[in-house]
Amino acid sequence: MRRTHTCGDLRSSDLGKEVCLQGWVRFSRDHGGVAFIDLADRYGITQVVFDPEDLPAGTDAQALANVMKTFTRESAVSVNGIVRKRVDGTEDARNKTGEVEVLITSAELLSRSEVPPFEIGDQKEGVLPSEDVRLEYRYLDLRRTEMIRAIEFRSKFIHLARQYLESQGFLEIETPMLAKSTPEGARDYVVPSRVHPGTFYALPQSPQLYKQMLMVAGMDRYYQVARCFRDEDSRKDRQPEFTQLDIEMSFIEEKDIQDNMERMLAYIWKGLYGEELQIPFPRISYMEAMERYGSDKPDLRYGLPLEKLTEVFRETNYGIMKKIVAEGGIIVGMNLKKDIAGDKIGRNDVDRYIALAKKFGLGGLTWMRVVNGELDSNIVKYFTDDNKKGIKETMKAEEGDLIFLMAGPWKRTLEGAGLMRRQLAADLGLVPEGTFQFHWLVDCPMFEVDPVSGKKDAFHHPFVLPYDNFRKGACFDILLNGNELGSGSMRINRPEMQVEVLHQLGLSDERIEENFGWFIKALGYGAPPHGGIAIGVDRVIAILLGKETIRDTIAFPKNKKAESLIDGSPDKIDDEKLEELQLMSLAMDDVDFDIEEEDIE
Ligand code: AMO
Repeated sequence: MRRTHTCGDLRSSDLGKEVCLQGWVRFSRDHGGVAFIDLADRYGITQVVFDPEDLPAGTDAQALANVMKTFTRESAVSVNGIVRKRVDGTEDARNKTGEVEVLITSAELLSRSEVPPFEIGDQKEGVLPSEDVRLEYRYLDLRRTEMIRAIEFRSKFIHLARQYLESQGFLEIETPMLAKSTPEGARDYVVPSRVHPGTFYALPQSPQLYKQMLMVAGMDRYYQVARCFRDEDSRKDRQPEFTQLDIEMSFIEEKDIQDNMERMLAYIWKGLYGEELQIPFPRISYMEAMERYGSDKPDLRYGLPLEKLTEVFRETNYGIMKKIVAEGGIIVGMNLKKDIAGDKIGRNDVDRYIALAKKFGLGGLTWMRVVNGELDSNIVKYFTDDNKKGIKETMKAEEGDLIFLMAGPWKRTLEGAGLMRRQLAADLGLVPEGTFQFHWLVDCPMFEVDPVSGKKDAFHHPFVLPYDNFRKGACFDILLNGNELGSGSMRINRPEMQVEVLHQLGLSDERIEENFGWFIKALGYGAPPHGGIAIGVDRVIAILLGKETIRDTIAFPKNKKAESLIDGSPDKIDDEKLEELQLMSLAMDDVDFDIEEEDIE
């Protein structure tokens, strides 16, 4: 028996046809000896009916009834039958096959299912089992329509990206999985070598150095749907292994990469939604993003901008502000206008936001309302007239407005203010649903200094082309609704410059030679000016589909603790294998597998 149609195919135009359907028994109900079964597959659901009173002459009703008894939930089955119209009033308008049903004339159990640990159907919110159960039985979870749609959407997205890139002369080239470490700021997953005991390959954190070498090799335009591995804390938008749409181009400038990405996304958009995507995307500088929105990935679908008040407080009697200004910190204000927040945020709410501010790394939160045209709160008495005037003017303060001031060291304060902005926007219902706002973050620094450790780090990675005497890097991010979708840059293409940047990051000549000598050597053979970008595929799919976590866009993701529940990995390996790899000294029993629950979303 082979199926003649999928479970999503049959329509009224098929009435009277003899068909064979194969799929899974989703639901069945018995109405006085007549069994109605929802037969499901990836394409849809068709109602099939076993009606002993309505069988063609010569059918062995008893034999058929015996087969039907074996049709337990989620078993794989095959039915032959005749397409007929459903009884008037029992049509299902939500289902494409909802006008018809198939009267079963013969049937076969293809493979019986154990009792599934959860019901597969179009679950209403809250009915789903815990995520760990879903991940342990992922093959069942993936039978759910929502998961099928996500997997289909992802496949289509990647297909459209490939179509666009191929049409523009990009070559899809695979780079190694077993390789030397490529630093992207996370820890490596390593693979021991049997042939060279005591040595390890690293799984790539990204194909960065390989794609650059492909440019040295003259491949000119490269892309890859590349699997990347990073051993870092799990988050809703982070997985230990994830997929990048990775791109590199030669003899180009920064804008060429961005133009190409915009055109690629517009092509994908058209393919997915049949609509034009507005390009070019607006650009925002790193400085503006930080000082106006408190984030290097601001969500620009709503307002609540920050206003800088540092100058307003240059002379003041308010001790905290005075100290912060003297120490070179920043003071920013956010005006929660009367019409959006003024009435919604009461005294108790303000206390809650003060507590939250501390959680977000801010020293505190100074607040005031505008009452009878004056700033009103218990700290206003410390303000000079100029302070009050400056606040009112800069914040465009009007009657009933609520104003929050946040102050402290530049980065920490802005980031804290950015988190407040995000929280307030969510609380006040300012985030529009179902809208997509792409942006480029441009004009970025080359290096960052960690405020706590004082360690200098690359803003992106050490292969970015610096300019403005190393103050800036030719790097940029693509943002969507306040999320970083991807990042790209022009790269260094001369060995001396590469060495210089690594020196500036504090690497010794020996370290440079040991870790990057092989790559710097390649730059010495006529590396063309080049640059590229990588877009996080899991992330873009999650955002477009409105998923809470990227785990819902990946067929077999790891859970929050980086475990693969379906196969129980990571797992211990046999002593024999350890011996072969000469890893016995790593007594596995001593390894602590427990991960702190904290900090895991
Ligand atoms: P970057 O490290 O910014 O850049 O990564 C690019 C994009 O990959 C996605 N991403 C992740 N997605 C899921 N889980 C993770 N753990 C994870 N880490 C990163 C994000 C991110 O924006 N080689 C450079 C790119 C380049 O310069 O061409 C790179 O990897 O969406």
